[in-house]
Amino acid sequence: EKSEPLKIMISGAPASGKGTQCELITHKYGLVHISAGDLLRAEIASGSENGRRAKEHMEKGQLVPDEIVVMMVKDRLSQSDSEQNGWLLDGYPRSASQATALKGFGFQPDLFIVLEVPEDILIERVVGRRLDPVTGKIYHLKYSPPETEEIAARLTQRFDDTEEKAKLRLKTHNQNVRDVLSMYDDITIKIEGNRSKQEVFAQIDSSLSELLQQRNTAPSSL
Ligand code: AP5
Repeated sequence: EKSEPLKIMISGAPASGKGTQCELITHKYGLVHISAGDLLRAEIASGSENGRRAKEHMEKGQLVPDEIVVMMVKDRLSQSDSEQNGWLLDGYPRSASQATALKGFGFQPDLFIVLEVPEDILIERVVGRRLDPVTGKIYHLKYSPPETEEIAARLTQRFDDTEEKAKLRLKTHNQNVRDVLSMYDDITIKIEGNRSKQEVFAQIDSSLSELLQQRNTAPSSL
């Protein structure tokens, strides 16, 4: 009998490595990656009114209002692939009200991964980040350079990846982080994120394998 799929949340400051670790986690564990930031960028690209409003807040490094974000994430979590394969929620919740809404809809994560990286490192990561629009892969000019000239030529930069905007995003993060952490004390693991992405992943990987193993050996649930 197949055990319940994993339900994981990942959090951390801007450029702490959430998206990078999500690529590695989904590749190994087959979870559905649900990134609040990616959902919002897709909404902007669609040209909708919600997208236009979301962008105004993202440009200033502020949280997008709950009335836009909460249902967007809920709808994605409710799709059948997320229910069947389990999910990896990235960048949500970012406030107590978002966490409360999630709970109210009946979504209970098994584990809350928090990546910790010093602030001076974060800015350097933001400014050097590049994205491949074809594969969606995340690169860094210094730490994860593109594999080929062809990829290098097509890389793009996010509109909020300037030093100035990153500082505003960091400020917003620092204002909200404690509220969110306090709601998941019992399932939180803090991970030192200022190491190579493989080292960070090794630690996440061992927590996830342990979780799966505990489930498979536990007496059948009540
Ligand atoms: P979002 O898109 O989630 O941005 P963020 O939280 O600022 O995080 P990033 O995507 O910048 O960083 P990351 O942690 O994924 O790092 P990455 O792996 O790319 O949100 C954007 C905006 O949307 C918010 O500001 C807000 O306005 C809005 N929003 C989103 N969610 C919301 C919500 N719930 N409610 C309201 N509003 C919301 O890595 C960064 C760089 O570092 C890359 O170049 C990478 O290659 C490099 N790197 C990664 N790991 C390492 C490593 N170990 N060593 C060296 N380099 C590394």
